[in-house]
Amino acid sequence: MTAKILDGKNLAEKIKNEIKEVVSGLRNEGIIPGLAVVIVGNDPASRTYVNSKRKDCAEVGIESFEYALDESTSEEELLELIAKLNKDPKVSGILVQLPLPKHINEDAVIFAIDPAKDADCFHPVNVGKLMIGKHEFLPCTPAGVMELIKESGIEVAGKECVVVGRSNIVGKPQSMLLLSQNGTVTICHSKTKNLEEVCKRADILVAAVGRPEFIKGSYIKPGAVVIDVGINRLENKKLVGDVEFSSASEVAGAITPVPGGVGPMTRAMLLVNTIKAAKLQNGRSV
Ligand code: GUN
Repeated sequence: MTAKILDGKNLAEKIKNEIKEVVSGLRNEGIIPGLAVVIVGNDPASRTYVNSKRKDCAEVGIESFEYALDESTSEEELLELIAKLNKDPKVSGILVQLPLPKHINEDAVIFAIDPAKDADCFHPVNVGKLMIGKHEFLPCTPAGVMELIKESGIEVAGKECVVVGRSNIVGKPQSMLLLSQNGTVTICHSKTKNLEEVCKRADILVAAVGRPEFIKGSYIKPGAVVIDVGINRLENKKLVGDVEFSSASEVAGAITPVPGGVGPMTRAMLLVNTIKAAKLQNGRSV
């Protein structure tokens, strides 16, 4: 293997230590950041994520409030809870764990969150602010990816950046963030022709397709920075990314592992957004 490993776990620990200091300072001023996490139903992966968020908050001194609602909760009941959390001064940030049960309209729920408390940065007001470079919050996974790219030591400006995946949560905002740092950005998706060739142009390749080990070493330009956003559980229970690590790490200059790459960074960025929300709600700048 030749690639430098971009250790997201280690970097996230470093960031969490910085956050701990900031939270301690805020608490000294009487500001206690709080994150409300709402989960509906019993999806095991969602439960794991929510547990991690509670643990992360406790680690850095952020209060967390969990609302675990029954699968049968109606959209109206969920919207009522959000309206209550929007008004609660103890709640700086709100996160509704996705996916929601099929009978609930996710857009209606996301749109109901006060943009000033939007810890995920999914609300259209915050997405719009990101588009025009006037954002307070950043979406957690793309923001974590930018931190990892910074850690790789490569400058984004002028580089060929290829993002594979166009989701609202990762692909689209990731492309905007790379563009905002003056990367030359290509967004690929399921209809892209010659995906392998397009990926091979990339100095910075971000894989967010949700297909296990889809991107092979042959897709990668020698020396490229490869960021793997995927988390896929194989039938044998092994966790793998969207990139085939064994072949890709022979070609890349730097690469994120799965697990221990983007995942911990996403979690750390949620804490950053929660603190930003607490500061803004208390008249501080971020
Ligand atoms: N489900 C999977 N990823 C996410 C995320 O980043 N935020 C929320 N709210 N739900 C998710």
